[in-house]
Amino acid sequence: MKNKKKILFVASESTPFIATGGLAEVVGSLSKALVRRGDYDVRVVLPLYGDICQDVRDKLQFAGSITVPVAWRNQYCGIFRCKSDGVIYYFVDNEYYFKRKGLYGHYDDGERFAFFCRSALEILPKVEFYPDILHCHDWQAALATIFLKTIYCRDEKYRNIKTVFTVHNIEYQGKFSLDNLQWLFGIDSSCQGLVEYDGCINLMKGAMECCDILSTVSPTYAEQIKDPYFAHGLDAMVRRNQGKLCGIINGIDPDYYDPAADKSLFAAYSADDLAPKAVCKEQLQRMLNLQVRPNTPIVAMISRLVAHKGIDLVAEVIDRALENDMQFVILGTGDGRYEHFFADLAARHSQQVAAIIAFNPQLSRQIYSGADIFLMPSLSEPCGLAQMIASRYGTVALVRETGGLKDSITPYGAGGNGFTFANYNAYDMLYVLNQALQLYRNKTEWKQLVHKAMTTDFSWNVSAGGYDAMYASLLSIK
Ligand code: GLC
Repeated sequence: MKNKKKILFVASESTPFIATGGLAEVVGSLSKALVRRGDYDVRVVLPLYGDICQDVRDKLQFAGSITVPVAWRNQYCGIFRCKSDGVIYYFVDNEYYFKRKGLYGHYDDGERFAFFCRSALEILPKVEFYPDILHCHDWQAALATIFLKTIYCRDEKYRNIKTVFTVHNIEYQGKFSLDNLQWLFGIDSSCQGLVEYDGCINLMKGAMECCDILSTVSPTYAEQIKDPYFAHGLDAMVRRNQGKLCGIINGIDPDYYDPAADKSLFAAYSADDLAPKAVCKEQLQRMLNLQVRPNTPIVAMISRLVAHKGIDLVAEVIDRALENDMQFVILGTGDGRYEHFFADLAARHSQQVAAIIAFNPQLSRQIYSGADIFLMPSLSEPCGLAQMIASRYGTVALVRETGGLKDSITPYGAGGNGFTFANYNAYDMLYVLNQALQLYRNKTEWKQLVHKAMTTDFSWNVSAGGYDAMYASLLSIK
């Protein structure tokens, strides 16, 4: 049998263990999809956060401990492991760094993720796994790419490991003051130029410079981040590294999101048996104290309530939109001003609007299944998964044509699977929303569109092939 390609993912979160956003879903589902292809041995390193629940902890096996250098300090690192869907997960344990509430936003995040990234490389002899490719995701894992190229490359066991760095969102770069270089990160001053940018240490920039392939989560976003409008200051670095840049759209796990098998739903349905979706809608309306009206379309949003999600556009025209026969449901948390806006909107239109200011995975599935139109008017969106999940549940996506939204949702008029608008303009959005509400009245055409949305292949089938080709190209470079 031919040798399997050995890939080590370094990431700060992954389903099914710990998740705060899309990154976790991609790490969890891509690793599983690669293993399913048969010729991959994929392993994932994660921090053992205090927030990881006891059920998960009970399944972990202790695999030994080592001492990890974090610049001048030597820190304990426990190694735990488990296997899930064919993927081996390693959890690195140090209670000083990770036994806290919340994954990010601590004053010493630089040191915490420096420890994590050093550990990801230091555990390899102990677990006897030297990957062909080290695949690091977002700034929290950037230092693993940087350490490999600046420190570990001297060791022959590490020397041939290739690296991929994936940008899931260029907005979060991991910036620290320059005086941390040696005492916190343990990077020699001769390597300062690699990680320095704009007068500070920028870990994402450092990984862009050090990696063999720079990837991001959709083809459109790969183009956009060369442009200052989207790059949060890093456009010049992206352009400089564009020879090794590629964009591969994310997929979703079709088993994890399956309206025919999802235990959270009020009723099970599929593209060929759509009728029970009406039960999901009715129960959702009851649960949220909306009028129970089978023929009134529900427009839904499930989103972090932050500016780049396009919340301003919604705030601008939602009162006008509500003059139509429609209901509006929003689920999410975020900036106080948006939370207040939607709470107030719901109070003003109590029978027509429900605003749930919370993070609630079960309710999100009930909304994906019970709604009719899913609104995602992002100002920027590296990939976005919600539009794919909504489509899979037969809720037609209405998106702005940016990043991965543009690459996954195509306009209905041109035979596509949803609705789109191009300019970041509230009235353009309203115009397309009105068109969608009108089409909803035409039961035959709407059913066809729902069918089209549900049967669009958003699984990893296609995109795991993209990663496969990318890894293969990397391994053929000697
Ligand atoms: C980030 C991006 C999102 C993407 C996800 C997974 O959360 O903001 O667009 O879908 O990463 O790659």
